[in-house]
Amino acid sequence: MKNSKSQPVIFVIFGATGDLNWRKINPALYNLFLDKWMPEQFAIIGTGRTEYSDKDFRKKLLEGVNKFSRKGEAEKTAWEKYANNITYQAADINDSKAYQDLGANINALKKEWGQEPVVIFYMAVASDFFPTIAENLKKNKLAQRADMARIVIEKPFGTDLESAKALNKLLCDIFDEKQIYRIDHYLGKETVQNILAFRFANSILEPIWNRNYIQHVQLSVTEQLGVGSRGGYYEGSGALRDMVQNHVLQLLCLIAMETPINFEADEVRNRKVDVLRSMRPFKPEDIKRNAVRGQYGEGWIEGEKVPGYREESSVDAHSNTETFAALKFFVDNWRWDGVPFYVRTGKRLHQSASVISIQFRDVPHKVFPEEAIDNWRQNRLIISIQPEMSIRLQVQAKRPGLDMVLNTVDMVFNYDETYGQETPEAYETLLLDTMMGDQTLFMRGDQVEAAWELLMPVLQSWETKPSLDFPNYSADSWGPETAEALIARDGFHWFALPSSTKSTR
Ligand code: BG6
Repeated sequence: MKNSKSQPVIFVIFGATGDLNWRKINPALYNLFLDKWMPEQFAIIGTGRTEYSDKDFRKKLLEGVNKFSRKGEAEKTAWEKYANNITYQAADINDSKAYQDLGANINALKKEWGQEPVVIFYMAVASDFFPTIAENLKKNKLAQRADMARIVIEKPFGTDLESAKALNKLLCDIFDEKQIYRIDHYLGKETVQNILAFRFANSILEPIWNRNYIQHVQLSVTEQLGVGSRGGYYEGSGALRDMVQNHVLQLLCLIAMETPINFEADEVRNRKVDVLRSMRPFKPEDIKRNAVRGQYGEGWIEGEKVPGYREESSVDAHSNTETFAALKFFVDNWRWDGVPFYVRTGKRLHQSASVISIQFRDVPHKVFPEEAIDNWRQNRLIISIQPEMSIRLQVQAKRPGLDMVLNTVDMVFNYDETYGQETPEAYETLLLDTMMGDQTLFMRGDQVEAAWELLMPVLQSWETKPSLDFPNYSADSWGPETAEALIARDGFHWFALPSSTKSTR
């Protein structure tokens, strides 16, 4: 439980002048400060290549808060109180001197506070720099105390199984696993955390949460946005690496995992790794059937002409990178034997939404006459993660009237209606957990490797066999036709996603 403030904390942010700090990390830290989660004594040391005075750096961060914070523009006095804790140090991450200076800063704060602080080294830099920073932290003895020094790593964690293993090895040679916080920001989303509460705090679900009652599961993480200015990164990534290896598989694990015996980080993470290890490996001959890829062409989104992926900046005009992926998985264990899990994710799709639909089996025998069940639909549980934050259970009910006519109605739990308060951003949750030393919502090394291992055959196949039909879906569609075929072959279709007035664009 997050019921006490943590010890004094120092955040050292590498890449502090970048977008991630500007849009996400700093607004989240500021909101934690406003909500009184920050300890009395804290410091934020930003480092980056560019020269900034503390004043200018704070000013830049304030602009980010005003633009991106869920709480809106910062109030002057509160901001100043918070910003007094921020300093900036121009640093070349290859140079030992930068780390010695950091060490001196940390020691000065320690002395001033008269207490040992938790020091969190946040790697908000491109993944190529992770090893250099980690090695320099070791060389300069900045992260020696396993209980007091933590390191936060953003994705991508490797680009394939081999590189992920190498990075894990490098980090684990330097740090203890309990010091390493690998971020998957989906795990910090309120609605994603609620999957655990929903599944394991309600006794009515467990008896039906298995192959006897569930026919299939659909998981859609769709985006209207294109790659925008991230073409350079995305070219080396693609939808499989960018979304499926992490966010999508993590969601699937939460749906498919066994009941943990408690809510300890390692217990929860063990149960999730079990899922990844139970997932049926792709055989080369099945890949074409069970994994499809797409790339968006140009189109119109909400009245605006948008370019195709190959026309985006820093993207190869003949790029083979997929911006859409749909896959069919099986979890080969007692609970899920024979239950297909269909997942899809992509950019420039018709709607932005992250939704998990659990389709229950049909009734064994229909009692009602044909004319009563025109709108018949099997029970469906729809967990909507964003932008609508809700859980709906679709059931059949009698329409009011003298005839017996049934139709589908939704029993809805909607966050906004129930709680009416703004929910914290994923980064707020994750940063607070880092301060508290709670790793439950972070990826463990073996989890990351198991996810890569599962996807490697597909990645290899897609890389060695360039797609002949890219671009194969237009912006504002639901992806390529092959994605429809993937699910239609089993007699199902992708469900319409709940629409919401909240925009994620
Ligand atoms: C990131 C991906 O991890 O998640 C992006 O790199 C993607 O490509 C983003 O757009 C989606 O996150 P969210 O929270 O907006 O659904």
